[in-house]
Amino acid sequence: MPKIDPKGSVALVTGANRGIGRAYVEALVKAGARKVYATARKAESVQYLVAAHPGVVEGFALDISNPAQIASAASKATDVTVLINNAGVANGSFLFAEAGASGMRQDVAVNLFGTTDVMRAFAPVIEANGGGAIVVLNSVASLVNFPLFSGYSASKAALHSVTQVVRAELAHKGILVTGVYPGPIDTEMAEPLDMPKEPPSAVADATLAAIANGEEEVFPDAMAKDLAKNFKADWKAVEKSIAEMMVPA
Ligand SMILES: NC(=O)c1ccc[n+]([C@@H]2O[C@H](COP(=O)([O-])OP(=O)(O)OC[C@H]3O[C@@H](n4cnc5c(N)ncnc54)[C@H](OP(=O)(O)O)[C@@H]3O)[C@@H](O)[C@H]2O)c1
Repeated sequence: MPKIDPKGSVALVTGANRGIGRAYVEALVKAGARKVYATARKAESVQYLVAAHPGVVEGFALDISNPAQIASAASKATDVTVLINNAGVANGSFLFAEAGASGMRQDVAVNLFGTTDVMRAFAPVIEANGGGAIVVLNSVASLVNFPLFSGYSASKAALHSVTQVVRAELAHKGILVTGVYPGPIDTEMAEPLDMPKEPPSAVADATLAAIANGEEEVFPDAMAKDLAKNFKADWKAVEKSIAEMMVPA
């Protein structure tokens, strides 16, 4: 697999205005990226990053559930070599709760279809630029369903599957496809979780180190590393322990 040095790269980050996306922009700038497109649903929400890093960070609107905006982004940012698919939503709900069905629809629309559409638009751009990397923000919830986030987990499990097929289809095009599988990270998304959380910078730093080494999977924090180890040993035991922890008897 190719090793992609973030230094000198031209990166595009989705959902860059806050949380892990913001950490990716800052880590890329620190690593010496030539240009970072910081994209967000509202262009004005990334202006503080543009102002903080003049000449390196450019910002524009990209709602990943809007096909016209995706097409426009791919025709504008034609020099991208590293795509960071970070944008995502998490509707917290049990499947059989009232909000379960609508929440799942939105989670799947954004996390699965939106992210997939962005990859379909940018893979030819990266290929035309001689190769690079596509990073996909999966989750530990890609490996096991966390019932309190049932639809989110289903969307991330499907995204994990898409990560695999994108990797397979791009294997001979000089494009590294790296899946990132964090546990709880200290952002707005994880606010409802009362448990230890690691900082967004831990995810960004581990990802940039991984693509520089040509690695296909990143388990960036302690909980993710632990879950991955247990999952490899006995995935049914992991499923049962998470279900018992989250579903009231
Ligand atoms: N935090 C965790 O514990 C954790 C763990 C595992 C994986 N992840 C994954 O890491 C990624 C970043 O999450 P986070 O923790 O940084 O969450 P966050 O703080 O809630 O940020 C989510 C980002 O995604 C953007 N977004 C949502 N829908 C979008 C759309 N349709 N188009 C473009 N941008 C959109 C949001 O923009 P607005 O500001 O406009 O809403 C925001 O910038 C997600 O894919 C998430 O699933 C997070």
